[in-house]
Amino acid sequence: MKNILITGGAGFIGNHVVRQFVNKYPDYNIVNLDALTYAGNLENLADLESKSNYTLVKVDINDADAVDAVFKSHQITDVIHLAAESHVDRSISDPLIFLRTNILGTANLLNSAKNHWTDLSQHLFYHVSTDEVYGSLGDTGLFEETTSYDPRSPYSASKASSDHLVRAYHHTYGMQIKITNCSNNYGPYQFPEKLIPLIINNIVHKKPLPVYGDGTNVRDWLYVQDHVEAIDLVFHKGTNGETYNIGGNNEKQNIGLVHLLCEAVDAKLGRPEGDAKSRITFVTDRPGHDQRYAIDASKIKAELGWEPKTDVATGLAKTVDWYLQNEEWLSNVTSGDYQKYYDNHYS
Ligand code: NAD
Ligand code: TYD
Repeated sequence: MKNILITGGAGFIGNHVVRQFVNKYPDYNIVNLDALTYAGNLENLADLESKSNYTLVKVDINDADAVDAVFKSHQITDVIHLAAESHVDRSISDPLIFLRTNILGTANLLNSAKNHWTDLSQHLFYHVSTDEVYGSLGDTGLFEETTSYDPRSPYSASKASSDHLVRAYHHTYGMQIKITNCSNNYGPYQFPEKLIPLIINNIVHKKPLPVYGDGTNVRDWLYVQDHVEAIDLVFHKGTNGETYNIGGNNEKQNIGLVHLLCEAVDAKLGRPEGDAKSRITFVTDRPGHDQRYAIDASKIKAELGWEPKTDVATGLAKTVDWYLQNEEWLSNVTSGDYQKYYDNHYS
């Protein structure tokens, strides 16, 4: 019997992972540990509340005693760790919370796991990380699993530290671990501080569409369900101690992506061509803005047979449809504190 602790399951990627594991593996008990920060939202999980193999515990990973108590009371056998502060811009304005949650919080989880798991060979600590730990690429090249770490924002530095800690517990204590570093995710339930849902929300509300710098920065977009399939596969079939890069094979310049979103949303809302594009506004660049991220995902393809299935046109169409059909979700998450964050950041 597996009792799997999924951390950060009320967030964007986490809710999709929780849903996959609860529905696909009825024999697993899934414990979703989440502090329900601004990024954690119970509305993301409403369809799972009645499932008998699903439990939510509202716990902060920075609270070592509370984390320990969860390991004990739920007899946790494995961890899939997603809980994190995840937004680069917030890490620039308030770095310390990123260090606390992403580094010390990860250390708390590792410690609880080490203390509770008497036979480490029977358990797995799976850490979900980002390609941003590898730094920034020029026009060519791809991040490989062997690329040197070169994090350049407080967010990526904190995630790099957490990756090192997870590997340290593997090498020092013999804990079974797996790490995946993936590119930019998009899809339903993403908090609208990130580029794609922020632009969709602003198009809907006829607000300016802020593009940092000259808009030539490149990201490799991965549809969230493709990421979930990769996590499922690595969890079950990946090799102990290994790292796998996960990418979307969908490189886009930000400005090109924003154009696609403008066209898609205008068409869906029956607005005249060019309406949204006329509100694109180039704004002051993000300090230290990484120019390009791109993933070489050949290892996970060769070893586990995974590759992304969703091209950007299909993924964006599904995403736009979801946000347009879930106006209430969007309006709930953009009320209150979001407005303060938005006004502060974009004023
Ligand atoms: P998110 O910000 O949408 O969700 C984070 C979740 O973690 C929220 O539910 C939040 O309540 C919870 N959380 C935050 N601090 C916590 C704490 N101290 N204790 C317990 N729970 C806490 O993030 P996301 O986009 O879903 O990312 C999930 C993971 O995937 C993160 O580790 C992130 O670094 C990684 N990742 C994300 C992307 C991406 O494009 N979104 C890409 C690569 C890697
Ligand atoms: P984001 O979604 O914040 O993800 P990350 O910084 O982790 O890659 O940003 C994606 C890209 O979009 C990044 O190059 C920054 C840019 N961006 C804008 O141009 N405008 C915005 O308002 C935001 C939030 C991001």
